[in-house]
Amino acid sequence: MNNSSDPTTPGATALEIRPFLETDAPGVTALWHEVFPEDPPHHDPAAVMARKTAYQRELFFVGLLEGQVVGTVLAGYDGVRGWVYKMAVRRHCQRLGIATALMRHAEEALAALGCPKVNLQVRATNQGVIAFYRKLGYAVEERVSMGKMLAGEP
Ligand SMILES: CC(C)(COP(=O)(O)OP(=O)(O)OC[C@H]1O[C@@H](n2cnc3c(N)ncnc32)[C@H](O)[C@@H]1OP(=O)(O)O)[C@@H](O)C(=O)NCCC(=O)NCCS
Repeated sequence: MNNSSDPTTPGATALEIRPFLETDAPGVTALWHEVFPEDPPHHDPAAVMARKTAYQRELFFVGLLEGQVVGTVLAGYDGVRGWVYKMAVRRHCQRLGIATALMRHAEEALAALGCPKVNLQVRATNQGVIAFYRKLGYAVEERVSMGKMLAGEP
């Protein structure tokens, strides 16, 4: 998909958004290393890509400028809620509307599956990202985020 006709993303006129291909792996790895430098081992890019391409890989989107990966968003729908992960844009391409275009693309894909609501998690200290999601219509909800690693996961 080309977003050149989307008037709400003026800075991203040449942006191409499409599902992930294996040939995107080096670009995705470079992006995630750049913007998620402190990710724990279970976020190893190769492992995340392997898991995501094995499950709802059609909801793993990359954004490309001139053929180079500049952004990602991973979505998933479990039949109750949609979730979004790895919303990321290369630093030198930020504030051009690329993440906005990627999120809208992911939201449309989730809505097409019948998903009624999207949830996502943001570190409380990541105020810039919170501002980004607020601008897209997301609200902070009073919840406690809980998680547990399952046996067998790296
Ligand atoms: C968050 C991120 C994906 C935003 O990507 P982006 O392409 O720059 O976002 P957009 O250009 O679509 O931003 C749209 C609007 O969101 C808001 N916004 C985006 N980044 C912001 C920031 N760092 N601080 C405050 N507001 C921000 C602005 O209102 C912006 O509009 P403006 O540029 O006209 O002011 C990018 O900064 C990023 O990759 N961050 C590091 C990775 C990360 O933490 N991801 C989230 C994991 S939960």
